[in-house]
Amino acid sequence: MQVLILAAGKGTRMKSPNPKVLFEIAGFPMLFHVMKAFEGIKGVNKINVLTGYRSDLIREKISPLFPETSFYLQKEQLGTGHAVKCFIDEKTVQDEDIFIACGDTPLLKKEELEEFATFHKENKNVLSVMSMSPEDPFGYGRIMTEENVPVEIIEEKDADNDQKKIRRVNSGIYIIKESFIRECIDKIDTDNSQGEFYLTDLVRLCYEKGLSSGVFEGNIHNLEGINDIKALSLARKEIHRRINEKLMLSGVDIYDPESTFIDLDVEIEADVKILPFTVIKSGSFIESGSSIGPFARLRQGSLVGKRCKIGNFVETKKAVFKDGVKASHLSYIGDSVIGMGTNIGAGTITCNYDGKNKFKTVIGENVFIGSNTSLIAPVKIDDNSKIGAGSVISKDVPEYSLSYSRAKQSIKKNHFRRK
Ligand code: UD1
Ligand code: CA
Repeated sequence: MQVLILAAGKGTRMKSPNPKVLFEIAGFPMLFHVMKAFEGIKGVNKINVLTGYRSDLIREKISPLFPETSFYLQKEQLGTGHAVKCFIDEKTVQDEDIFIACGDTPLLKKEELEEFATFHKENKNVLSVMSMSPEDPFGYGRIMTEENVPVEIIEEKDADNDQKKIRRVNSGIYIIKESFIRECIDKIDTDNSQGEFYLTDLVRLCYEKGLSSGVFEGNIHNLEGINDIKALSLARKEIHRRINEKLMLSGVDIYDPESTFIDLDVEIEADVKILPFTVIKSGSFIESGSSIGPFARLRQGSLVGKRCKIGNFVETKKAVFKDGVKASHLSYIGDSVIGMGTNIGAGTITCNYDGKNKFKTVIGENVFIGSNTSLIAPVKIDDNSKIGAGSVISKDVPEYSLSYSRAKQSIKKNHFRRK
Protein backbone atom coordinates (compact mmCIF):
# COMPACT_ATOMS: atom_id res chain seq x y z
CA MET A 1 0.00 0.00 0.00
CA GLN A 2 1.25 3.48 -0.85
CA VAL A 3 0.20 6.75 0.71
CA LEU A 4 -0.61 9.82 -1.36
CA ILE A 5 -0.85 13.15 0.43
CA LEU A 6 -2.45 15.97 -1.53
CA ALA A 7 -0.67 19.24 -0.90
CA ALA A 8 -0.80 21.18 -4.15
CA GLY A 9 -3.23 23.86 -3.03
CA LYS A 10 -2.22 27.33 -1.87
CA GLY A 11 -4.50 27.60 1.12
CA THR A 12 -5.97 30.95 0.10
CA ARG A 13 -7.82 31.46 3.37
CA MET A 14 -4.56 31.50 5.34
CA LYS A 15 -3.96 34.89 3.66
CA SER A 16 -0.25 34.27 3.44
CA PRO A 17 2.20 33.81 0.56
CA ASN A 18 3.53 30.70 2.33
CA PRO A 19 1.99 27.37 1.41
CA LYS A 20 -0.52 26.21 3.99
CA VAL A 21 1.10 22.83 4.60
CA LEU A 22 4.34 24.49 5.77
CA PHE A 23 2.82 26.44 8.66
CA GLU A 24 4.68 25.47 11.83
CA ILE A 25 3.13 23.36 14.55
CA ALA A 26 5.26 22.31 17.54
CA GLY A 27 8.51 22.82 15.63
CA PHE A 28 7.55 21.06 12.39
CA PRO A 29 5.57 21.85 9.24
CA MET A 30 1.91 20.88 9.23
CA LEU A 31 2.63 18.36 6.47
CA PHE A 32 5.22 16.63 8.67
CA HIS A 33 2.52 15.83 11.24
CA VAL A 34 0.37 14.24 8.53
CA MET A 35 3.29 12.15 7.24
CA LYS A 36 4.24 11.13 10.78
CA ALA A 37 0.75 9.66 11.29
CA PHE A 38 1.25 7.39 8.27
CA GLU A 39 4.82 6.42 9.04
CA GLY A 40 5.07 2.86 10.26
CA ILE A 41 1.45 1.85 9.54
CA LYS A 42 1.39 -1.87 8.76
CA GLY A 43 1.37 -2.42 5.00
CA VAL A 44 2.44 1.11 4.10
CA ASN A 45 5.67 0.96 2.15
CA LYS A 46 5.88 4.42 0.67
CA ILE A 47 4.72 7.97 1.30
CA ASN A 48 4.18 10.19 -1.74
CA VAL A 49 3.42 13.89 -1.64
CA LEU A 50 1.72 15.76 -4.44
CA THR A 51 2.77 19.41 -4.59
CA GLY A 52 1.92 22.33 -6.84
CA TYR A 53 1.93 25.77 -5.23
CA ARG A 54 5.52 26.55 -4.09
CA SER A 55 6.50 22.99 -4.83
CA ASP A 56 10.27 23.61 -4.49
CA LEU A 57 9.91 25.12 -1.05
CA ILE A 58 7.82 22.19 0.19
CA ARG A 59 10.36 19.68 -1.15
CA GLU A 60 13.22 21.60 0.43
CA LYS A 61 11.57 21.57 3.85
CA ILE A 62 10.21 18.01 3.81
CA SER A 63 13.10 16.11 2.18
CA PRO A 64 15.49 16.38 5.16
CA LEU A 65 12.72 15.26 7.53
CA PHE A 66 11.52 12.34 5.37
CA PRO A 67 14.32 11.49 2.92
CA GLU A 68 12.37 8.51 1.50
CA THR A 69 9.49 10.65 0.24
CA SER A 70 8.64 10.72 -3.46
CA PHE A 71 7.24 13.97 -4.78
CA TYR A 72 4.79 14.39 -7.63
CA LEU A 73 3.80 17.60 -9.33
CA GLN A 74 0.38 19.02 -10.18
CA LYS A 75 1.15 22.12 -12.21
CA GLU A 76 -2.34 23.53 -12.17
CA GLN A 77 -4.81 22.89 -9.36
CA LEU A 78 -7.81 21.62 -11.29
CA GLY A 79 -9.35 19.70 -8.40
CA THR A 80 -8.73 16.69 -6.17
CA GLY A 81 -9.58 14.23 -8.98
CA HIS A 82 -7.01 15.84 -11.23
CA ALA A 83 -4.51 15.79 -8.34
CA VAL A 84 -4.79 12.02 -8.01
CA LYS A 85 -4.56 11.65 -11.79
CA CYS A 86 -1.26 13.55 -11.80
CA PHE A 87 0.10 10.98 -9.35
CA ILE A 88 -1.33 7.88 -10.97
CA ASP A 89 -0.13 8.88 -14.47
CA GLU A 90 3.46 9.00 -13.20
CA LYS A 91 3.37 6.04 -10.82
CA THR A 92 4.65 2.62 -11.93
CA VAL A 93 1.68 0.28 -12.39
CA GLN A 94 1.14 -2.09 -9.47
CA ASP A 95 -1.82 -3.92 -8.02
CA GLU A 96 -2.03 -2.23 -4.66
CA ASP A 97 -4.14 0.07 -2.53
CA ILE A 98 -3.60 3.82 -2.44
CA PHE A 99 -4.19 5.52 0.93
CA ILE A 100 -5.15 9.11 0.12
CA ALA A 101 -5.18 12.02 2.58
CA CYS A 102 -4.81 15.80 2.58
CA GLY A 103 -1.75 17.70 3.74
CA ASP A 104 -3.81 20.03 5.93
CA THR A 105 -5.06 17.52 8.52
CA PRO A 106 -2.28 17.55 11.16
CA LEU A 107 -4.36 15.95 13.92
CA LEU A 108 -4.57 12.50 12.28
CA LYS A 109 -3.85 9.62 14.65
CA LYS A 110 -1.95 6.55 13.55
CA GLU A 111 -4.22 4.14 15.47
CA GLU A 112 -7.31 5.46 13.72
CA LEU A 113 -5.72 5.24 10.27
CA GLU A 114 -4.72 1.65 11.09
CA GLU A 115 -8.31 0.80 12.07
CA PHE A 116 -9.49 2.29 8.79
CA ALA A 117 -6.97 0.20 6.82
CA THR A 118 -8.15 -2.94 8.64
CA PHE A 119 -11.78 -2.06 7.84
CA HIS A 120 -10.88 -1.67 4.17
CA LYS A 121 -9.00 -4.96 4.07
CA GLU A 122 -11.48 -7.07 6.05
CA ASN A 123 -14.38 -5.93 3.87
CA LYS A 124 -12.31 -6.52 0.72
CA ASN A 125 -13.34 -3.08 -0.50
CA VAL A 126 -12.34 -1.52 -3.76
CA LEU A 127 -12.98 1.90 -2.21
CA SER A 128 -13.31 2.97 1.42
CA VAL A 129 -13.94 6.49 2.63
CA MET A 130 -13.52 7.87 6.13
CA SER A 131 -16.46 9.94 7.29
CA MET A 132 -17.04 12.23 10.23
CA SER A 133 -20.08 13.92 11.70
CA PRO A 134 -19.35 17.48 12.77
CA GLU A 135 -21.88 19.57 14.68
CA ASP A 136 -21.98 21.88 11.65
CA PRO A 137 -21.30 20.07 8.36
CA PHE A 138 -21.05 23.33 6.39
CA GLY A 139 -18.40 23.30 3.67
CA TYR A 140 -17.84 19.55 3.56
CA GLY A 141 -18.95 16.98 1.00
CA ARG A 142 -22.07 15.16 2.27
CA ILE A 143 -22.04 11.36 2.02
CA MET A 144 -25.18 9.70 0.67
CA THR A 145 -25.33 6.11 1.86
CA GLU A 146 -27.44 2.99 1.46
CA GLU A 147 -26.87 0.71 4.45
CA ASN A 148 -23.34 2.00 5.01
CA VAL A 149 -22.51 1.71 1.33
CA PRO A 150 -21.51 5.11 -0.04
CA VAL A 151 -23.60 6.00 -3.05
CA GLU A 152 -22.39 9.47 -3.79
CA ILE A 153 -20.63 12.46 -2.23
CA ILE A 154 -22.21 15.85 -2.85
CA GLU A 155 -20.12 18.97 -2.27
CA GLU A 156 -21.58 21.86 -0.27
CA LYS A 157 -21.81 24.04 -3.37
CA ASP A 158 -23.68 21.36 -5.32
CA ALA A 159 -26.03 20.26 -2.52
CA ASP A 160 -29.73 21.02 -2.34
CA ASN A 161 -31.40 22.00 0.94
CA ASP A 162 -32.24 18.42 1.94
CA GLN A 163 -28.74 17.18 1.17
CA LYS A 164 -27.25 20.03 3.20
CA LYS A 165 -29.01 18.65 6.27
CA ILE A 166 -26.92 15.47 6.16
CA ARG A 167 -24.33 15.60 8.95
CA ARG A 168 -22.18 12.68 7.84
CA VAL A 169 -19.44 14.17 5.69
CA ASN A 170 -16.32 13.23 3.78
CA SER A 171 -13.10 13.65 5.77
CA GLY A 172 -11.03 13.53 2.58
CA ILE A 173 -9.33 10.27 3.55
CA TYR A 174 -9.75 7.26 1.30
CA ILE A 175 -8.26 3.90 0.49
CA ILE A 176 -8.80 3.00 -3.14
CA LYS A 177 -7.54 0.14 -5.28
CA GLU A 178 -5.04 1.39 -7.83
CA SER A 179 -6.56 -0.61 -10.67
CA PHE A 180 -9.95 1.00 -10.04
CA ILE A 181 -8.40 4.48 -10.01
CA ARG A 182 -6.71 3.76 -13.34
CA GLU A 183 -9.96 2.45 -14.81
CA CYS A 184 -12.13 5.38 -13.74
CA ILE A 185 -10.01 8.49 -13.19
CA ASP A 186 -10.59 9.71 -16.76
CA LYS A 187 -14.33 9.33 -16.36
CA ILE A 188 -14.34 12.23 -13.87
CA ASP A 189 -15.53 15.46 -15.50
CA THR A 190 -15.87 19.06 -14.37
CA ASP A 191 -19.64 19.15 -14.60
CA ASN A 192 -20.22 20.72 -11.19
CA SER A 193 -20.68 24.17 -9.70
CA GLN A 194 -16.93 24.70 -9.08
CA GLY A 195 -15.84 23.41 -12.51
CA GLU A 196 -13.29 21.15 -10.80
CA PHE A 197 -12.37 17.50 -11.21
CA TYR A 198 -13.81 15.99 -8.01
CA LEU A 199 -12.04 12.90 -6.66
CA THR A 200 -15.28 12.17 -4.84
CA ASP A 201 -16.88 11.22 -8.19
CA LEU A 202 -15.04 7.91 -7.84
CA VAL A 203 -17.49 7.02 -5.05
CA ARG A 204 -20.44 7.24 -7.43
CA LEU A 205 -18.57 5.40 -10.21
CA CYS A 206 -17.69 2.58 -7.79
CA TYR A 207 -21.32 2.28 -6.67
CA GLU A 208 -22.62 2.29 -10.25
CA LYS A 209 -20.24 -0.54 -11.13
CA GLY A 210 -21.53 -2.56 -8.18
CA LEU A 211 -18.03 -2.89 -6.69
CA SER A 212 -17.64 -3.22 -2.93
CA SER A 213 -17.20 0.03 -1.04
CA GLY A 214 -17.74 1.22 2.52
CA VAL A 215 -17.77 4.15 4.93
CA PHE A 216 -15.75 4.16 8.14
CA GLU A 217 -16.77 6.72 10.75
CA GLY A 218 -13.78 8.53 12.22
CA ASN A 219 -13.39 10.90 15.15
CA ILE A 220 -14.00 14.51 14.14
CA HIS A 221 -11.30 15.70 16.58
CA ASN A 222 -8.58 13.93 14.60
CA LEU A 223 -9.83 14.78 11.13
CA GLU A 224 -10.26 18.50 11.11
CA GLY A 225 -8.79 20.21 8.06
CA ILE A 226 -6.95 23.50 8.63
CA ASN A 227 -8.33 26.20 6.38
CA ASP A 228 -7.58 29.41 8.27
CA ILE A 229 -5.36 30.75 11.04
CA LYS A 230 -8.05 30.27 13.66
CA ALA A 231 -8.22 26.54 12.94
CA LEU A 232 -4.41 26.43 12.88
CA SER A 233 -4.18 27.89 16.37
CA LEU A 234 -6.70 25.36 17.70
CA ALA A 235 -4.73 22.52 16.09
CA ARG A 236 -1.54 23.80 17.70
CA LYS A 237 -3.25 23.80 21.08
CA GLU A 238 -4.38 20.22 20.59
CA ILE A 239 -0.93 19.03 19.47
CA HIS A 240 0.75 20.73 22.44
CA ARG A 241 -1.88 19.14 24.68
CA ARG A 242 -1.01 15.71 23.30
CA ILE A 243 2.74 16.30 23.71
CA ASN A 244 2.30 17.48 27.32
CA GLU A 245 0.00 14.59 28.16
CA LYS A 246 2.56 12.07 26.91
CA LEU A 247 5.35 13.74 28.87
CA MET A 248 3.30 13.93 32.08
CA LEU A 249 2.43 10.23 31.84
CA SER A 250 6.15 9.51 31.50
CA GLY A 251 6.88 11.40 34.73
CA VAL A 252 7.58 14.98 33.67
CA ASP A 253 6.03 17.35 36.20
CA ILE A 254 4.37 20.04 34.07
CA TYR A 255 2.81 22.54 36.48
CA ASP A 256 0.52 24.18 33.92
CA PRO A 257 0.15 22.37 30.58
CA GLU A 258 -1.98 25.23 29.24
CA SER A 259 0.97 27.63 29.33
CA THR A 260 3.71 25.15 28.39
CA PHE A 261 4.76 24.82 24.75
CA ILE A 262 7.08 21.92 23.99
CA ASP A 263 8.06 20.87 20.45
CA LEU A 264 7.31 17.41 19.15
CA ASP A 265 10.87 16.04 19.22
CA VAL A 266 11.97 17.44 22.60
CA GLU A 267 13.12 14.73 24.99
CA ILE A 268 12.59 15.20 28.71
CA GLU A 269 13.42 12.60 31.34
CA ALA A 270 11.21 11.72 34.29
CA ASP A 271 11.58 13.81 37.45
CA VAL A 272 12.02 17.08 35.57
CA LYS A 273 9.90 20.06 36.66
CA ILE A 274 8.55 22.41 34.01
CA LEU A 275 7.10 25.54 35.60
CA PRO A 276 4.46 27.73 33.91
CA PHE A 277 4.99 29.87 30.81
CA THR A 278 7.84 27.85 29.40
CA VAL A 279 8.70 27.27 25.73
CA ILE A 280 11.03 24.43 24.73
CA LYS A 281 12.00 24.19 21.07
CA SER A 282 13.06 21.41 18.78
CA GLY A 283 16.30 19.49 19.35
CA SER A 284 16.35 20.07 23.10
CA PHE A 285 16.96 17.43 25.76
CA ILE A 286 16.52 17.72 29.52
CA GLU A 287 17.84 15.16 31.99
CA SER A 288 16.30 14.10 35.30
CA GLY A 289 16.26 16.28 38.40
CA SER A 290 16.30 19.57 36.51
CA SER A 291 13.87 22.42 36.89
CA ILE A 292 12.89 24.73 34.03
CA GLY A 293 10.99 28.01 34.28
CA PRO A 294 8.77 29.76 35.08
CA PHE A 295 9.10 31.99 32.00
CA ALA A 296 12.02 30.10 30.45
CA ARG A 297 12.66 29.86 26.73
CA LEU A 298 14.84 26.97 25.63
CA ARG A 299 15.47 27.37 21.93
CA GLN A 300 16.83 24.91 19.34
CA GLY A 301 19.49 22.58 20.68
CA SER A 302 19.38 23.31 24.40
CA LEU A 303 20.89 20.32 26.19
CA VAL A 304 20.32 20.39 29.92
CA GLY A 305 22.01 17.82 32.17
CA LYS A 306 20.93 16.45 35.54
CA ARG A 307 19.89 18.65 38.49
CA CYS A 308 20.23 21.90 36.54
CA LYS A 309 18.14 24.97 37.11
CA ILE A 310 17.06 27.23 34.28
CA GLY A 311 15.00 29.93 35.92
CA ASN A 312 12.82 32.87 34.97
CA PHE A 313 13.56 34.97 31.89
CA VAL A 314 16.45 32.79 30.81
CA GLU A 315 16.79 32.21 27.07
CA THR A 316 19.07 29.48 25.79
CA LYS A 317 20.05 28.40 22.28
CA LYS A 318 22.56 25.77 21.14
CA ALA A 319 23.77 25.54 24.70
CA VAL A 320 25.04 22.57 26.68
CA PHE A 321 24.52 22.68 30.44
CA LYS A 322 26.44 19.91 32.19
CA ASP A 323 25.07 18.46 35.44
CA GLY A 324 24.24 20.85 38.25
CA VAL A 325 24.53 24.12 36.31
CA LYS A 326 22.35 26.96 37.55
CA ALA A 327 21.20 29.92 35.48
CA SER A 328 18.41 31.15 37.67
CA HIS A 329 17.48 34.57 36.36
CA LEU A 330 17.48 36.93 33.38
CA SER A 331 20.13 35.50 31.06
CA TYR A 332 20.86 34.77 27.42
CA ILE A 333 23.09 31.74 26.92
CA GLY A 334 23.77 30.90 23.26
CA ASP A 335 26.40 28.82 21.43
CA SER A 336 27.86 27.80 24.77
CA VAL A 337 29.11 24.84 26.77
CA ILE A 338 28.96 25.14 30.55
CA GLY A 339 30.76 22.71 32.86
CA MET A 340 29.43 20.85 35.91
CA GLY A 341 28.38 22.79 38.95
CA THR A 342 28.86 26.23 37.44
CA ASN A 343 26.69 29.10 38.57
CA ILE A 344 25.61 31.73 36.06
CA GLY A 345 24.65 34.94 37.85
CA ALA A 346 21.53 36.95 37.11
CA GLY A 347 21.70 38.99 33.95
CA THR A 348 24.65 37.16 32.39
CA ILE A 349 24.72 37.50 28.61
CA THR A 350 26.83 35.50 26.18
CA CYS A 351 27.52 38.01 23.40
CA ASN A 352 27.72 35.39 20.66
CA TYR A 353 27.00 37.51 17.61
CA ASP A 354 29.08 40.35 16.16
CA GLY A 355 26.51 41.24 13.53
CA LYS A 356 27.99 38.83 11.01
CA ASN A 357 29.12 35.62 12.66
CA LYS A 358 28.34 33.54 15.73
CA PHE A 359 31.04 32.59 18.25
CA LYS A 360 31.30 30.13 21.11
CA THR A 361 31.55 30.64 24.83
CA VAL A 362 33.16 27.78 26.78
CA ILE A 363 32.84 27.81 30.55
CA GLY A 364 34.49 25.18 32.74
CA GLU A 365 33.43 23.39 35.93
CA ASN A 366 32.60 25.08 39.24
CA VAL A 367 32.89 28.53 37.76
CA PHE A 368 31.07 31.43 39.36
CA ILE A 369 29.94 34.12 36.93
CA GLY A 370 28.95 37.26 38.83
CA SER A 371 25.68 38.95 38.04
CA ASN A 372 25.31 41.18 35.02
CA THR A 373 28.39 39.88 33.22
CA SER A 374 28.83 40.15 29.45
CA LEU A 375 30.91 37.34 27.97
CA ILE A 376 32.20 38.50 24.57
CA ALA A 377 32.60 35.36 22.47
CA PRO A 378 34.79 33.68 21.44
CA VAL A 379 35.92 33.36 25.02
CA LYS A 380 36.96 30.58 27.39
CA ILE A 381 36.51 30.61 31.16
CA ASP A 382 38.50 27.84 32.84
CA ASP A 383 37.55 25.62 35.79
CA ASN A 384 37.18 27.00 39.32
CA SER A 385 37.48 30.62 38.30
CA LYS A 386 35.32 33.48 39.45
CA ILE A 387 34.15 36.60 37.61
CA GLY A 388 33.17 39.73 39.47
CA ALA A 389 29.69 41.14 38.96
CA GLY A 390 29.19 43.67 36.21
CA SER A 391 32.21 42.57 34.19
CA VAL A 392 32.71 42.66 30.45
CA ILE A 393 34.93 39.67 29.71
CA SER A 394 36.61 39.46 26.31
CA LYS A 395 39.89 37.70 27.24
CA ASP A 396 40.19 34.06 28.22
CA VAL A 397 40.13 33.44 31.97
CA PRO A 398 42.60 30.94 33.50
CA GLU A 399 41.62 28.37 36.14
CA TYR A 400 41.48 29.34 39.83
CA SER A 401 41.61 33.03 38.93
CA LEU A 402 39.46 36.00 39.80
CA SER A 403 38.63 38.36 36.92
CA TYR A 404 36.68 41.56 36.94
CA SER A 405 36.50 44.43 34.55
CA ARG A 406 34.47 47.39 35.55
CA ALA A 407 34.95 51.07 36.09
CA LYS A 408 36.09 52.01 39.58
CA GLN A 409 33.36 53.44 41.72
CA SER A 410 33.77 57.16 42.44
CA ILE A 411 32.26 58.70 45.54
CA LYS A 412 31.74 62.44 45.84
CA LYS A 413 31.03 63.13 49.48
CA ASN A 414 28.58 65.86 50.44
CA HIS A 415 27.66 66.34 46.79
CA PHE A 416 24.09 67.35 47.72
CA ARG A 417 22.98 70.01 50.12
CA ARG A 418 21.49 68.52 53.28
CA LYS A 419 17.90 69.49 54.18
C1 UD1 B 1 -12.60 18.11 -0.23
C2 UD1 B 1 -13.64 17.10 -0.67
C3 UD1 B 1 -14.82 17.15 0.32
C4 UD1 B 1 -14.34 16.90 1.72
C5 UD1 B 1 -13.20 17.84 2.09
C6 UD1 B 1 -12.58 17.42 3.40
C7 UD1 B 1 -13.48 16.98 -3.09
C8 UD1 B 1 -14.13 17.36 -4.37
N1 UD1 B 1 -14.10 17.40 -2.00
O1 UD1 B 1 -13.18 19.38 -0.33
O2 UD1 B 1 -15.79 16.18 -0.05
O3 UD1 B 1 -15.41 17.02 2.63
O4 UD1 B 1 -12.16 17.81 1.10
O5 UD1 B 1 -11.65 18.37 3.82
O6 UD1 B 1 -12.47 16.32 -3.09
N2 UD1 B 1 -5.71 19.73 -3.67
C9 UD1 B 1 -4.74 19.48 -4.60
N3 UD1 B 1 -4.97 19.79 -5.89
C10 UD1 B 1 -6.13 20.33 -6.31
C11 UD1 B 1 -7.15 20.58 -5.35
C12 UD1 B 1 -6.89 20.26 -4.05
O7 UD1 B 1 -3.66 18.99 -4.25
O8 UD1 B 1 -6.26 20.57 -7.52
C13 UD1 B 1 -5.45 19.40 -2.27
C14 UD1 B 1 -5.47 20.62 -1.40
O9 UD1 B 1 -4.15 21.14 -1.26
C15 UD1 B 1 -5.98 20.06 -0.07
C16 UD1 B 1 -6.86 18.89 -0.50
O10 UD1 B 1 -6.48 18.58 -1.81
O11 UD1 B 1 -4.94 19.55 0.73
C17 UD1 B 1 -8.34 19.21 -0.43
O12 UD1 B 1 -8.62 20.25 -1.33
P1 UD1 B 1 -9.72 21.35 -1.01
O13 UD1 B 1 -9.86 22.23 -2.17
O14 UD1 B 1 -9.44 21.95 0.31
O15 UD1 B 1 -11.02 20.43 -0.92
P2 UD1 B 1 -12.36 20.80 -0.24
O16 UD1 B 1 -13.10 21.78 -1.05
O17 UD1 B 1 -12.13 21.12 1.18
CA1 CA C 1 -12.14 23.41 -2.77
